[in-house]
Amino acid sequence: MSAPQSTPVSVLKTETAIRPAQLRDIAALGELLSPFVASGVLLPRDETNLTRNLREFFLLEWRGEIAACAALQIFTRELGEVRSLAVAPQFARRGFGRQLVARVESEAASLGLSRLIALTVEAEFFHKLGYRTVDMRDLPEKLWGVCINCPKFRNCDEIAVQKDLQ
Ligand SMILES: CC(C)(COP(=O)(O)OP(=O)(O)OC[C@H]1O[C@@H](n2cnc3c(N)ncnc32)[C@H](O)[C@@H]1OP(=O)(O)O)[C@@H](O)C(=O)NCCC(=O)NCCS
Repeated sequence: MSAPQSTPVSVLKTETAIRPAQLRDIAALGELLSPFVASGVLLPRDETNLTRNLREFFLLEWRGEIAACAALQIFTRELGEVRSLAVAPQFARRGFGRQLVARVESEAASLGLSRLIALTVEAEFFHKLGYRTVDMRDLPEKLWGVCINCPKFRNCDEIAVQKDLQ
């Protein structure tokens, strides 16, 4: 995948498409996530996990190549989470992360969810997209439903952010 470093952002946007992931994308999804998993920024997802949760994923393609992904996980009838958001490093700061989160938000709203959260080390990125930092203790569904089983539970470096959907 070549890096479009010199291409203006406005041009890049006309060449992107977001679509639901398909089974044939699993290997590429794993490759996209792996550097972020290796650096501890994202939680690992093996092939089985990706396969079973594939319908949560959206992919952003640039000129037909997978450049970024994000997943929408439903927690309750009100609450969803943006998960596994990853933009390939050569496409960073091109608006791809923003576009994908917007797609996840519109999907969440169309399903009837009223709030979205994310657990992230990139809180500033989410703040730019209208999310606010919240106390993890205000998210018991996540804390006691998921985080308690995470190896980083007592050492978590992630910040919880939340956005109310229109
Ligand atoms: C965080 C991440 C998704 C950002 O994606 P991106 O495509 O580079 O971000 P965008 O270009 O859409 O940026 C949107 C805005 O956020 C800002 N931004 C992006 N990354 C930022 C960061 N690390 N810190 C502060 N601001 C950031 C951009 O400057 C832009 O601001 P602007 O609208 O004022 O110009 C990407 O760097 C990534 O994949 N990181 C590793 C995985 C991760 O942390 N995922 C989140 C956990 S779910």
